[in-house]
Amino acid sequence: MAGNLKGLVLSGGAGTRLRPITHTSAKQLVPVANKPVLFYGLEALRDAGIREVGIIIGDTGDEIRAAVGDGSALGIEVTFIPQSAPLGLAHAVLTAEEFLGDDDFVMYLGDNLLRDGITPLVDRFRESDPDAMILLQQVPNPESYGVAVLDGDRVVILEEKPAEPKSDLALVGVYMFTSAILDAAKAIEPSPRGELEITDAIQYLIDQGKRVEPHVVTGWWKDTGKVEDMLEANRLILDVIEPSMEGELVNSNIEGRVVIQKGARLVNSHVRGPAVIGQDAIIEDSYVGPYSSISTGCVVRRAEIEHSILLERVHIEDLDARVESSLIGRDVTISRTDAKPRAYRFVLGDSSVIGLT
Ligand code: G1P
Repeated sequence: MAGNLKGLVLSGGAGTRLRPITHTSAKQLVPVANKPVLFYGLEALRDAGIREVGIIIGDTGDEIRAAVGDGSALGIEVTFIPQSAPLGLAHAVLTAEEFLGDDDFVMYLGDNLLRDGITPLVDRFRESDPDAMILLQQVPNPESYGVAVLDGDRVVILEEKPAEPKSDLALVGVYMFTSAILDAAKAIEPSPRGELEITDAIQYLIDQGKRVEPHVVTGWWKDTGKVEDMLEANRLILDVIEPSMEGELVNSNIEGRVVIQKGARLVNSHVRGPAVIGQDAIIEDSYVGPYSSISTGCVVRRAEIEHSILLERVHIEDLDARVESSLIGRDVTISRTDAKPRAYRFVLGDSSVIGLT
């Protein structure tokens, strides 16, 4: 292989399936166990020994830059690469041509999460030295993904979100490439949805007789495009989180795997893990149940929360039903008042979803 191995992380895209959160924020920055999804990918690249990482950014670029900085806090050196428009994954590769040079690289879609990281897979790519390596996983709904058909250990057909999938092997959003992919991306035409598909570029490599190695990953993988996926990713990461206690407990108790971050304060409350309570959060006269991630600066009073993700500075007060399976954006307030007339009073952003009992 050609010397250095770089990382290319895609962190543009509109995140339409995570609205309204993504009206104001990048989907890759939605937290899982109080850490942005994107950071799990960056750490996976670092753990695989990759230092130089290019991050493709789009409309939400400023926010991504602010969150990642120069990457040194994560142990990597980051170069931000603005993409003119979301014209496909192969277009993103072409946008990064100057950064990539003729080095090999791992392309990582910033909303993908692989619990077991990618180190053994990167090692295998280094050893086996194919023209490209793709990761696959069996899924119940292949029509939502790129789909691969194998013949033994050879990839023969790749199709992007086919209406009638020829196999149940979905393309995981982590790819290992040599610079051959640049020529392929230049050779292909936009798909019917107007994008330069990476799936088509890889098919082009196959058609040119290049060696594209498939690897079926068995560990947990999630493309966190939807609310249910975010909640599932949150469950999975909380299940293996290392408990810690840096906050203050006043007449409160905690059970199971619980992380209480710095400056958090629990008063007359009960937290049943797995759960994480963020920095400076206040939990008072409340119950926080399994699979909850409460971000920095949240306030929960006289309420019950379970199986939910609260972003920064959410206030929840005086509810008489438990909040469950919810993803609540920054600075949202949900409270009860005695004001008359008795009525629901909402100030909701576009695409908000409210479920009342
Ligand atoms: C993209 C790829 C698809 C792949 C998926 C994995 O789809 O186009 O081939 O299976 O990522 O996350 P997207 O999620 O951007 O629609």
